[in-house]
Amino acid sequence: EEPITDLLDRLAAVVPDYPSPGISFKDLTPVFADAAGLKRIVDEVIAPFAGEYDVIAGLEARGFVLAAAGAYAAGTGMVTLRKKGKLPREVHAEEYLLEYGTATLELHQDDIAPGSRVLILDDVLATGGTVGAAVRLIERAGGVVAGVGVILELDGLGGRSRLAPHRVHTLQRV
Ligand code: PRP
Ligand code: MG
Repeated sequence: EEPITDLLDRLAAVVPDYPSPGISFKDLTPVFADAAGLKRIVDEVIAPFAGEYDVIAGLEARGFVLAAAGAYAAGTGMVTLRKKGKLPREVHAEEYLLEYGTATLELHQDDIAPGSRVLILDDVLATGGTVGAAVRLIERAGGVVAGVGVILELDGLGGRSRLAPHRVHTLQRV
């Protein structure tokens, strides 16, 4: 079987100078679009956590792809953590830092059953700001973070240490 890092190198599209000059962006949409590619990344990102979670949380927007597919494969439910103002009922809200300014992630107050173990999935871990906000939201809602799975981890931005002591599983470091 093709190593997962080879599959990602083969299918992900590298976009030079995006979103700003000097940055080389790894676009996962061709991996999502490939039947075998989507199945491999979803199966491998959830595999180490088998039996350790009750529900999967997806982070808007790109985390939704992984979380919905992972939940379907694992036979769990899926919870959506959304950008500000998208959820219709009572929410918990957590701010996080962007390169310029802040953003807010929200979670319905009753979408997570008290004590349930939650696996967080997203496409990319960079500074860890987004996943950090997700961790705080899940804990405020009464859940227990079972771990964090991402496809790509950008080295040198401090994401992994920011999330300690939570277990972070990454398919490729770039
Ligand atoms: C991107 C990416 C991760 C996040 C990682 O999302 O999908 O969620 O940034 O960065 P961080 O670790 O520094 O927080 P973004 O908010 O750009 O947009 P999206 O709605 O397309 O997922
Ligand atoms: Mg995102």
